[in-house]
Amino acid sequence: MAMQRRGNAIHVVFIYAFWIALWRSKAQLQVGFYDTSCPAAEIIVRQEVTKAVNDNPGFAAGLLRLHFHDCFVRGCDGSVLLDSTPNNTAEKDSPPNTSLRGFEVIDNAKARLEEACFGVVSCADILAFAARDGIVQAGGQSYPVPAGRRDGNVSTSQEALGNLPPPSAKIDQMSQAFANKGFTQSEMVALSGAHTIGVSHCSSFSSRLYNNGPTATQDPTMDPGYVSQLMQQCPQGSTNNLVPMDPSSPNTFDTGYFNDLVDNRGLFTSDQTLMSNESTAGQVIMYANNSDVFFSDFSNAMVKMGYMGVLTGSLGEIRTNCRVING
Ligand code: HEM
Ligand SMILES: *[C@@H]1O[C@H](CO)[C@@H](O)[C@H](O)[C@H]1NC(C)=O
Ligand SMILES: *[C@@H]1O[C@H](CO)[C@@H](O)[C@H](O)[C@H]1NC(C)=O
Ligand SMILES: *[C@@H]1O[C@H](CO)[C@@H](O)[C@H](O)[C@H]1NC(C)=O
Ligand SMILES: *[C@@H]1O[C@H](CO)[C@@H](O)[C@H](O)[C@H]1NC(C)=O
Ligand SMILES: *[C@@H]1O[C@H](CO)[C@@H](O)[C@H](O)[C@H]1NC(C)=O
Repeated sequence: MAMQRRGNAIHVVFIYAFWIALWRSKAQLQVGFYDTSCPAAEIIVRQEVTKAVNDNPGFAAGLLRLHFHDCFVRGCDGSVLLDSTPNNTAEKDSPPNTSLRGFEVIDNAKARLEEACFGVVSCADILAFAARDGIVQAGGQSYPVPAGRRDGNVSTSQEALGNLPPPSAKIDQMSQAFANKGFTQSEMVALSGAHTIGVSHCSSFSSRLYNNGPTATQDPTMDPGYVSQLMQQCPQGSTNNLVPMDPSSPNTFDTGYFNDLVDNRGLFTSDQTLMSNESTAGQVIMYANNSDVFFSDFSNAMVKMGYMGVLTGSLGEIRTNCRVING
């Protein structure tokens, strides 16, 4: 009887410790993290993003992609913002960086934040806020961004290559890449909806037009009309041209991307391949006509992405300049 009771007590202590541990691991970031330490933090970032996107709507896409590349490589620690040094080639100078943009928006926000509250707001958090604010400027839904990330001091080109799936990835490789990062296939589909804004270089998909394996020259999963259109925008060898990823509404955060996929007009193999699996295809078709569900799933997946490998507490540092580690 006594043994039994002690067993139960130990059991309860274990469960309690487990929940505390779980709660701590979840609570390392918090919404409103800067409310007392730098109350204007999120306002300043929003102002800078709004100004930038008004000047050039493409910055909304640029900032969103920067946050994704930051989080998938070494966690959301601002590593994508670091410049290369004579001794080190940084993530931003790796092949998957093609057309990363928005660095100057982060620099402007950081400069104002250092004036308002020196050494308080991390570059990684600025990026997380800016990605959200860009989505809102592009007509998407807002969501609260848990904060409290600190900045890392390492950024290497090789790590970008190893951690970001290529645009040639098919469904199995995509699902595996996202599973390796702790995401479900369903979260992967939601996050892919980010391609409803922004542009791509021809080089990221031209193999689908001109060189799709030994027998076919054109990717049979792409609508032939879209193939012809893209061939005009991307003559063979014209790797530097840019095309919108969701041509009917390239600067609006909507469900256009999913409608494109339903029409076989996804730009990358990694986009169109979402139609090749029953369950991802079903989700694409559902999102195509349900923006509320897409926005809600996307916001949740973005918040989850924002927790990837974060440095908190006494780890890392608060960079003074987002491009260089503190000296
Ligand atoms: C699923 C795997 C993914 C692959 C293979 C992929 C690949 C790419 C490629 C190749 C480009 C164009 C680069 C260029 O040629 O200029 C691009 C652009 C972009 N990607 Fe992704 N991406 C993926 C997932 C994501 C996710 C999860 C997000 C955000 C949550 C995202 C956001 C963006 C945005 C916004 C752009 C446009 C950037 C701009 O216009 O400046 N991507 N992506
Ligand atoms: C590069 O590495 C060399 C040798 O390790 C070192 O002397 C130099 O200070 C480094 N330069 C930078 C900019 O870190
Ligand atoms: C991306 O990396 C390439 C080298 O792979 C470099 O030439 C280019 O300047 C980089 N682009 C940006 C925007 O940093
Ligand atoms: C980077 O941070 C780690 C852990 O905080 C530290 O041990 C290391 O010395 C730092 N490296 C540089 C170059 O600052
Ligand atoms: C679709 O994806 C699910 C989950 O990864 C997998 O179990 C299923 O076999 C896939 N179906 C096809 C047809 O590839
Ligand atoms: C979305 O709804 C419209 C109008 O009801 C319909 O024509 C279209 O086929 C639907 N698309 C999908 C993918 O279900």
